[in-house]
Amino acid sequence: MAKIIDGKQIAQNVKDELKVKVQEFFVKNNRQITLAVILVGDNPASQVYVKNKIKATEYVGMKSLSFYMPATSTQEQVEETVKSLANDDTVDGILVQLPLPKHLYENKILSQIPAGKDVDGFLAENVGNLMLGQDTTVACTPFGVLKMLKSSGVELSGKNAVVLGRSNIVGKPMAMLLLKENCTVTICHSKTQNLEQVCKNADILVAAIGKPEFVKANMVKEGAVVIDVGINRTENGLVGDVDFNAVKGVASQISPVPGGVGPMTIAMLLENTYLCACRRNNAK
Ligand code: GUN
Repeated sequence: MAKIIDGKQIAQNVKDELKVKVQEFFVKNNRQITLAVILVGDNPASQVYVKNKIKATEYVGMKSLSFYMPATSTQEQVEETVKSLANDDTVDGILVQLPLPKHLYENKILSQIPAGKDVDGFLAENVGNLMLGQDTTVACTPFGVLKMLKSSGVELSGKNAVVLGRSNIVGKPMAMLLLKENCTVTICHSKTQNLEQVCKNADILVAAIGKPEFVKANMVKEGAVVIDVGINRTENGLVGDVDFNAVKGVASQISPVPGGVGPMTIAMLLENTYLCACRRNNAK
């Protein structure tokens, strides 16, 4: 039976270590690290995410600024809000919660965030730096998955890693991070042939496709490490992209949903905010 990777506990450790570093930053620089969060509209899931992000920000001793804008906000209004935070020297990180209402141009709004304040690691400059293997801000979810693997003592170098999903936010940066750790990486997607066989060859399998319980036991190698990034709301409640009950009999380690990757994403957002604050300080 697989060991369960406790994302909640690992995230708690990250936050508790951060709490100390954030306090040290305050003593040394006489200012509080600040994260600004912008939420446009009233998407209920986004409201919950933002509330949890703000709570965690304050838990580690950072200052949180929140901007709740109505769903009817214009492109100019949202861009102006981002621009004013971009120019505010007391703000270390800017997060625009996605998805935005349909009438807004997401790319144009995100591109108002300076790369140094892009705590989500979404901007081309940060994505490009990751590809070049340079010190940069890495998207919170794949950064959290890597932290889970390392905290769980998983050997990465030389291993076959398979990433299910090719999104800009998870699949692609995940593949780059695993490559940097000297894994042999395969990215699978909806057009991949012989998917079962490819997955079965994985020592490390990361599932991020948004299909409830898609990964079955026959797709997993005996002793593989399986990380489930999926969050699917179904009639049977919240489930991941992995058939947890079946796969836990085959894997050596597996992350659950909930209590796996989810809590890590918020912890790494705070880590990114801390890193952005340190880089901005060093650049002065
Ligand atoms: N919406 C869902 N996940 C995320 C995330 O990681 N960052 C932002 N900004 N919005 C999201």
